[in-house]
Amino acid sequence: MGEKPRVVITRRLPGVSLAKIGEKAEAVLPDRDGPMPRKELLRKVRGASGILSTLADRIDAPLMETAGKTLRVVSNFAVGVNNIDVAEATRRRIRVCNTPDVLTEAAADLGFGLLLAAARRFSEAERFLRAGKFTGWDPWGFLGVPVFGRTLGIVGMGKIGSAIAARARGFEMRVLYHSRTPIPKAREDALRARHVGLDDLLSGSDFIVLCVPLTSETRGMIDRGRLRRMKKEAVLVNIGRGEVVDEGALAEALAVGRIFAGGLDVYEKEPKIHPGLLRAPTAVLLPHLGSATTETRERMGGLATENLLAVLSGDDPPCPVN
Ligand code: DGY
Repeated sequence: MGEKPRVVITRRLPGVSLAKIGEKAEAVLPDRDGPMPRKELLRKVRGASGILSTLADRIDAPLMETAGKTLRVVSNFAVGVNNIDVAEATRRRIRVCNTPDVLTEAAADLGFGLLLAAARRFSEAERFLRAGKFTGWDPWGFLGVPVFGRTLGIVGMGKIGSAIAARARGFEMRVLYHSRTPIPKAREDALRARHVGLDDLLSGSDFIVLCVPLTSETRGMIDRGRLRRMKKEAVLVNIGRGEVVDEGALAEALAVGRIFAGGLDVYEKEPKIHPGLLRAPTAVLLPHLGSATTETRERMGGLATENLLAVLSGDDPPCPVN
């Protein structure tokens, strides 16, 4: 029997079965907890057949070159694959796989939660209470904006966007959406959602939720000009990727009350946070938690394992990207 192929698992991950991987491959694990340093990754991928990566690992052409011709699969523990140069992988006949579907509802829960938290100023109010400043009910304290019956604009009507639209029905919201491809009419009717141009969505919505992946088209999509189109009472939520929003422009808009509030789960230069956002009391800031439930992360790990092993066995993976 020949040697087992080597696979680099860049981080200790929930749901990733080392036992299953060990049956088919030799698993190369990180030296320590936390994201694998680039240097360590470059050293470990030499001659590897697979990589099980996270969104913090940059899987680019130099890394693929270092891995060499043995590399057949990059299985990402995420639905987003913007950390991977997919075109380069395709050119090199390396399969890229991701973990869609299993995180849809968790991400939609978080997106809707951020919307509510920003609208009703949960973070600001909790900081106030924890600072010992709550001296009793205040008729003027932390007045927010209503959610029920308002207009929700969803940018990116994929699975997560649609799941947010479904939640909005319970709040009797009018739903506008913008997507490269409109969803089928029957689905629009079921979600009571209307396809509009991006600028109309921005000017017509009370709440704007960004659910788009990061691509060359979406990078910097919400810039100063687009922020200016939003209503003064608008709430902007981003659960896609940080680079979709010009954070400097958003921090400025929040500082001068150009929009009401922001709810962010993702950032331009993660884990760095723009200082202007940290200063903005009306920004609700979460540390990239979209898929963070135990069940979801276990399922992501299961799927990432299946994707990896399928390609190594010469089978079609359940969730190919290329
Ligand atoms: C993803 O899967 O792309 C998320 O951002 C990670 O939770």
